[in-house]
Amino acid sequence: MATRIDGKAVSAKVREEVAKEVAALKEQGICPGLAVVIVGDDPASRIYVNNKKKACQATGIYSEEYALPAETTQEELLALVDKLNHKKDIHGILVQSPLPKGLDEEAVVEAIDPKKDVDAFHAYNVGKIMLGDYQFLPCTPAGIMELLKAYDISVEGKRCVVIGRSNIVGMAMLLLHQNGTVTVCHSRTKDLPEVTRQADILVSAVGKSHFVTADMVQPRAVVIDVGMNRDENGKLCGDVDFDQVEPIASYITPVPGGVGPMTIAMLLKNTVTAAKMQDQSL
Ligand code: GUN
Repeated sequence: MATRIDGKAVSAKVREEVAKEVAALKEQGICPGLAVVIVGDDPASRIYVNNKKKACQATGIYSEEYALPAETTQEELLALVDKLNHKKDIHGILVQSPLPKGLDEEAVVEAIDPKKDVDAFHAYNVGKIMLGDYQFLPCTPAGIMELLKAYDISVEGKRCVVIGRSNIVGMAMLLLHQNGTVTVCHSRTKDLPEVTRQADILVSAVGKSHFVTADMVQPRAVVIDVGMNRDENGKLCGDVDFDQVEPIASYITPVPGGVGPMTIAMLLKNTVTAAKMQDQSL
């Protein structure tokens, strides 16, 4: 039976460290600030944004929320990003995804000052990650690396298989930087189970419940579930068929309580990094 990786516990530790760092920065007159922009009324996004605000509050990070109506135009959104780029008390900017139809998400991300891009979605930061020379790591992959570290799971020389292409570039690169042998699979991959069965470390970011079944998992594999889905009964679940896979894996992340809490913790960490970078005296 696999060990369940406790993302709540590991994220609590990261948040504790962040809170200490925030307190130290405040003594030097710097208060890290995060602006969270949400457009429209997607219920899942509303929950994520509320959680991000609460996490800021709990760690002493100053936060501002900009909740804009779904009818917001691209120009209005870009004008807000520009204002936040120049706002001195804001060190990190996060535009919650997905944006309502009609808004160009890529253009909005590219408008964010890379120094304030705490999601690490801007092309500049993505490029830096590819080069292995980065200030910000994307929150979800960075959170996963922290989980592996916390459980002493080495990536060195391991076969790592990542399923899903959305924003997973960072995941593949971080595993590669730690000397994993990385394969990225997607909807066009031929004989997916054949490939995933090779994985010592399997990361799934597909967005479909019960997608990863026991026949796709090598015995004793480490299984990391990035999925955030609702099952037939409306219950929150990941991509992995947990009941099937838990008995054969060596480690597994549950949903909820696995990767999710880490993503927010790493966002806080990136906001502190941004504040330090933007303060010339440090
Ligand atoms: N929507 C779901 N996850 C995220 C995230 O990490 N950042 C942003 N900006 N939007 C999201």
